Amino acid sequence: MDLIRKDQVHESGAVAQERLETIAKASEPGPGVSRLPFGPEHEAALEIIAGWMNQADCTVTRDAAGTLIGRRAGPAGAPTLLIGSHQDSVRHGGAFDGIMGVALGCLALEALGDRALPFAVEVLAFADEEGVRFPTALIGPRALAGTLDQGVFAMVDKAGVSLGAALKAFGGDPEGTAALACDPATIAGYLELHIEQGPVLEAADKPLGVVTAISGIERHRVTITGEAGHAGTVLMEMRHDALLAASDLVRGVHDMARDQGIRATVGQLDISPNVVNAIPARIDLTIEIRAAEDPARTAMGAALSPLCAQIAEATATQIEIEKTYAQPAQACDAGLREGLAAAVRTATGAPAPELPSGATHDASAMADLCPIAMLFVRCKGGISHNPAEYASAGDMGAAVDALAAFLSGFCSNA
Ligand code: GLV
Ligand code: MN
Ligand code: MN
Repeated sequence: MDLIRKDQVHESGAVAQERLETIAKASEPGPGVSRLPFGPEHEAALEIIAGWMNQADCTVTRDAAGTLIGRRAGPAGAPTLLIGSHQDSVRHGGAFDGIMGVALGCLALEALGDRALPFAVEVLAFADEEGVRFPTALIGPRALAGTLDQGVFAMVDKAGVSLGAALKAFGGDPEGTAALACDPATIAGYLELHIEQGPVLEAADKPLGVVTAISGIERHRVTITGEAGHAGTVLMEMRHDALLAASDLVRGVHDMARDQGIRATVGQLDISPNVVNAIPARIDLTIEIRAAEDPARTAMGAALSPLCAQIAEATATQIEIEKTYAQPAQACDAGLREGLAAAVRTATGAPAPELPSGATHDASAMADLCPIAMLFVRCKGGISHNPAEYASAGDMGAAVDALAAFLSGFCSNA
């Protein structure tokens, strides 16, 4: 069965559609696309992407972090404009998240033909944005930005393989990643084209949107300790039920985020002993909070401890909470945003809506290196991280036109 439906549309959109359909086959078996970093599917994908880069007249190399780079040189000493996204997917994900941005970047360069650019341009296919195989992500962009914590290479996947060993087996060089940090003076900016993964553009009936900011994220690990007991004999008022506390916490987190107009998710929960006839003794769960404004996120993060204390008291349990990860919101650069908005007007004849991104992206790590901007492509039904994820060939064609117009404008302003 084809993952991507066929429409009769704009030529580069149709080529994008075909290319995404081909590369979607570089996947573990199962529904949709499952392409994790540093495995055979990743290798197969890079071979295909290298072909796209060659077609766009780029010289192809791979860096120590496993990022595939297609470079079109500019005049000596000219800075480089970076265009990129990620090759990896979630398990049973769609055929567009990440990889579409790489495909469209190559097609926009192809559309420019042999036009001499006053800048160098690089299309980057990062290895690992999703963080599905290892409990970390974004090593490619972090290496370029000089923010990569070398400790991540000791992290292991479910099979006990360390990130360092996996990268080495893939031909990368963990120690060599420290030398990848770019001099910001040599980089003009970073652009990322991405499927929206939400419903805003579809509701606005617009193919493309300009991103204002990428939401910040924080993650907390929670351990709830109750007491196991016989399901038939322990009186309800005498229980120390860890799952009861967890369910109060899930509801509390949901309500707090809804009331603040931000997002929060309990996405992982382990229960022990997890048997039908015993009171749950222990729950381990995660809470993730995302917001476009950091103060809203940190305020909710700070409110979690009092909420846990209140629930622990009400349920006669103990609750420990620890913040494990924080990533600030990153604003997109005003000048690049204006340039993208003008390019969308040129390509589609209509203004592009502006919208924040609730999902995170390679751009959030690249923001530590250089100005960033993102262009979103309409997503059918707002569905993403799902085999049903879909962007039409027509909308992808409009995105290629807009990026080519942006590059032309960017070049003529240079
Ligand atoms: C990745 O897609 C994320 O937003 O976590
Ligand atoms: Mn993505
Ligand atoms: Mn994703």
